[in-house]
Amino acid sequence: MKNFTDIKDISKDDIEDILTRTKNEKKIIKDNGIQAIEKILMGKTVALIFEKPSTRTRVSFEVGISQQGGSTTVLQSSDIQLSRGETVADTAKVLSNYVDLIVIRCFKHQTMIDFANNSSVPVINGLTDQSHPCQVISDILTIEENKGHLSKQNLLWIGDGNNVARSWLEASTVTNLNLTICTPKHLSLSDNLIESSVRNGANVIVDHDPKNAITNKSVVITDTWNSMGDGSANKENSLMPYQVNKNLMTKAAKSAVFMHCLPAHRGHEVTGEVIDSKQSLVFEGAENRLHVQRSIIWWCLNSD
Ligand code: CP
Ligand code: NVA
Repeated sequence: MKNFTDIKDISKDDIEDILTRTKNEKKIIKDNGIQAIEKILMGKTVALIFEKPSTRTRVSFEVGISQQGGSTTVLQSSDIQLSRGETVADTAKVLSNYVDLIVIRCFKHQTMIDFANNSSVPVINGLTDQSHPCQVISDILTIEENKGHLSKQNLLWIGDGNNVARSWLEASTVTNLNLTICTPKHLSLSDNLIESSVRNGANVIVDHDPKNAITNKSVVITDTWNSMGDGSANKENSLMPYQVNKNLMTKAAKSAVFMHCLPAHRGHEVTGEVIDSKQSLVFEGAENRLHVQRSIIWWCLNSD
């Protein structure tokens, strides 16, 4: 049994295995239709727990699980006894006696870890305040499908130093991908985290100047300036110079692509013109969540 908690907890080979299976399965679907994929969840049930809203994560997991022959039970945390003080540990112990796998999206990262530590079935991180590993593995696939191998790219994370940025940093640590992180100084990932990532193999540069940082980058990635749970933090004034707009994109490599995990706030972190441009991979990226997560489930249930 394997949990999919964070990118730092898996290996480069694990990522390769997940991506290879996804590429093969996409080919099977293209050649023979969705019915042709392996029904690895036949007779199995997956619980999806949400403390935060979700469109893509919820629907892509529900649909992917059904394509694999499984069924789902979606639990908004406000509807279950967690909201009345039942502990995470008790909830995990009970639910994992009913279902075969658990996906959890929660505020505190520690909640997801506690869930995994107390569950007798695999737990998948569907986003926490610290990370969004399903998103980043899926984005790696989208990059490789459009641009070739990850090792040939130079990626820019621009905007807020948030949970998705942290998963990219972990991806750089595990795969050695070339990453530049460009945020205002006070919204950066912590110096300690970046320094320890570099010690562990991350190929990362921190550059606070957007125009300099984007120069010649092949992949430009941003995200909302206000993540779920940020509360009323008003970061807009400091982040406006980091907005991905047409003018800034002209400084990236000519063949650069733009990515965003969505939901986007057009006119804030990115302009509509960039999201809707030919350079944008955002909708293709969102579709890949479905395909990659089927493989993440396969990886969790595979006990080699
Ligand atoms: N990108 C992503 O995880 O979207 P949702 O919040 O809609 O699930
Ligand atoms: N950083 C965003 C990602 C949403 C998918 C958030 O946590 O709200």
